[in-house]
Amino acid sequence: MSKGKKNLLSGVKPTGRPHIGNYFGAMKQFADLQNQYQTSVMIANYHDLGSGQTPGELRQNTLDAAIDHLAIGLDPQRITLFRQADVPEHAELAWIFNSLVTVPYLQRAHAYKDAVAKGKEATMTLFAYPVLMATDILMYNTHVVPVGKDQQQHVEIARDIAEKFNHCYGKLFNLPEALILEEVAVVPGIDGQKMSKSYGNTIPLFASDEEIKKAVMGIVTDSDSGRPENVYAIHKLLKPADELDPLYEEKAGKYKDLKEALLEDMIAFIAVLRERREEIASDIDQVEQILKNGADQARERAMLKMKQVRLAVGLD
Ligand code: TYM
Repeated sequence: MSKGKKNLLSGVKPTGRPHIGNYFGAMKQFADLQNQYQTSVMIANYHDLGSGQTPGELRQNTLDAAIDHLAIGLDPQRITLFRQADVPEHAELAWIFNSLVTVPYLQRAHAYKDAVAKGKEATMTLFAYPVLMATDILMYNTHVVPVGKDQQQHVEIARDIAEKFNHCYGKLFNLPEALILEEVAVVPGIDGQKMSKSYGNTIPLFASDEEIKKAVMGIVTDSDSGRPENVYAIHKLLKPADELDPLYEEKAGKYKDLKEALLEDMIAFIAVLRERREEIASDIDQVEQILKNGADQARERAMLKMKQVRLAVGLD
């Protein structure tokens, strides 16, 4: 570990293909900040148990998520990229943290409340999700957690758990801060709602030209003004306002032309990432080696932390 740098950690669930909301909201920050912070990126495969994926899908999606993160420019020489379940200490720490967290407190978590509102019968893994996520963050003395706005509450829960642990057993955990960039805190989908796989409104990050075309030409444009807001909001991810505004003024009301301009920019942006991804995916052994190195590094730190935790709580 390089000395003097603060620690950054973030995670991503292996739910299949990432979208540009994941990229601009979180992934891009990992790549941009990897020199400035001691960076760890974790593929949160424990978190996805019970989501309905088959074991084969979970295994494959976990590997794919690692490839995705290498394709956006994370440098495995600099950062730690690992699979959560390669570090089983997370499960042990979650059990210990469970003893500090009450049921009414966790019942206030948005993700749980949303699931219940949708009529889902929550599993214990869904209910205790924020506790496991707190272990991800706290295990590695994390200072900053770059995420989209939807994860802010989870980072606050991690802080609360750290404070409670420190109060009860002595100061072992840092209080982490969420790092949320205002302009991309909630990247909108093609219908203007938050981009999310569950709303079916995404532009996949490594999409083919055909998929990009279908998504971009399908952007909902019910704006009364000359500027189609949903098109503009996505376009602004790729180009600054001072470049876009003259175009949107010149083409005011011409929604098809503006979508075509966005399409051209989106295809150019994604093509580079897609090609890099194909290259990385052609050498799976190397990806596995990177994940193994990442697991070794993460596990060493986790084992050290658990030694202190077990002693502090009276298990050792
Ligand atoms: P996940 O896998 O749902 O999403 C990964 C990251 O993408 C961000 N994101 C968005 N940002 C802006 N606009 C959007 N439309 C959008 N959609 C998704 C998410 O905020 C997230 O940063 N619980 C986490 C995974 C996790 C984690 C962690 C994160 C597990 N352990 C520890 C940080 C630290 C999740 O479900 O993210």
